[in-house]
Amino acid sequence: MGQSNKLWGGRFEKDTASAMTNLSKSTHFDWRLATFDLLQTDVHVQALNRSKLLSDAETKQIRIAIKDIHNKVSSGALKPNDSDEDVHTAIERLIIESVGEIGGKIRAGRSRNDQAVTDFKLFLRGSARIISQELVGLCKAINEQATKYFDQASPGFTHLQHAQPVTLGHELAKHSQALLRDIERFTDWDARVDTCPLGAGALAGSALVTDSMWVANQLGFSRPSENSIDAVSDRDFVAEYLFICSVIGVHLSKFAEEIILLTTTEFGYATLDDQYATGSSIMPQKKNPDAAELTRGKSGRLIGNLTGLLVTLKGLPFAYNRDLQEDKEPVFDSHDTLMLLLPALTGMIQTLSFNTEKLSSNAALGHSLATEIADYLVKKNIPFNQAHEISGKCVKLAESKNMEVHQLSASDLSFVSKDLTSDVLEVLTVKASLLARSSYSGTSPVNVKAQIGRMNEKISVLIKWANHNPIPEIL
Ligand code: ARG
Repeated sequence: MGQSNKLWGGRFEKDTASAMTNLSKSTHFDWRLATFDLLQTDVHVQALNRSKLLSDAETKQIRIAIKDIHNKVSSGALKPNDSDEDVHTAIERLIIESVGEIGGKIRAGRSRNDQAVTDFKLFLRGSARIISQELVGLCKAINEQATKYFDQASPGFTHLQHAQPVTLGHELAKHSQALLRDIERFTDWDARVDTCPLGAGALAGSALVTDSMWVANQLGFSRPSENSIDAVSDRDFVAEYLFICSVIGVHLSKFAEEIILLTTTEFGYATLDDQYATGSSIMPQKKNPDAAELTRGKSGRLIGNLTGLLVTLKGLPFAYNRDLQEDKEPVFDSHDTLMLLLPALTGMIQTLSFNTEKLSSNAALGHSLATEIADYLVKKNIPFNQAHEISGKCVKLAESKNMEVHQLSASDLSFVSKDLTSDVLEVLTVKASLLARSSYSGTSPVNVKAQIGRMNEKISVLIKWANHNPIPEIL
């Protein structure tokens, strides 16, 4: 293929080697930015017109072509050519093919360096919102189950050993709490990404388009970037986006791990719906939690995308270096990975059923009510260290009788300490233990309901942010 549409070449005598061309080419991934490149080109053309560098007639003609190309790109009818180095080259070629020589004017006053970073910010601001919409869907699904089971007793664990009884609603809501913080992370991040790099030029700024605030606002940014060198070389907004995706991955992975555990024969607390399980090619009885396992596995890849980019950025000289082109593929991969995982996890939790009988009957196992004895004694003015000792002795006695601590009789308990009078039996139940945990973040059913109510209020604010993309449509 010819190389006539290269954006450079005047000072070269020889053709580029094909190995060099192959290495340099990025259209196979950055074509994904084509509609954003057209949008910013549309704004740039208007800015050139405002600077009297394009006539009204030229501007109109080019904008009609941009709109037409945008439609064809969106429908998939237009694709890059083999000879296009990157998305910016391809879009310029398409415009020149459509309007002829005047199309060559659109490159004035900007560089691919500010163009690339502007396209990327436009993509990322939309991506964060699309991922957040899916996260909200997952949080709502978790909260629906949490509401259904707001007072269902369940064993609570530390060190993967029975610790204290908790409500299942509380256990479930901990996952939506974490995921809501991730959406909030995106909103915090968005405020920092909200500066427009277009006008930074190659590194020094633009001498031809100086109405930077107007350009920024047209592209949905509230202001232009402060420093042109920083604007073209900074990728911390990309690293931060990948970090947020990684934390989401870690949260989803822990959620998935819990479902894997709860659905084992050993735990048997939950059962996956057939729709969200897979079978074995050899063992007919198998029902495997592959959705949860793939989630756990793919979180590694999300972290890898962040780590890879940070290594690329470390020690890079200022300003633009071609290394920076490596920022795109990890982002596309993280976006696509989350968009695969989140709908599957939403369906999985919506259809998950719980073995409430087993959850209830196991809630008091492992002497998980021992703390109630200590708390009871504290209320009788006994210092906690002594109360702890006494409760420990009750556990020892129960173990020697092959019982659970809450199964000891009133006389067994008073034998350990005279302060353990028969009314201690009233606190030695799962129900009493759950009701007692009424601190603000506690597991008591009333608190769980209030907690979910507050979360739902937060969700209604966050979904508004996620549903409003500040990036304008091409007109
Ligand atoms: N495609 C490049 C990128 O994504 C932009 C090209 C800038 N090229 C250059 N030689 N300055 O980063």
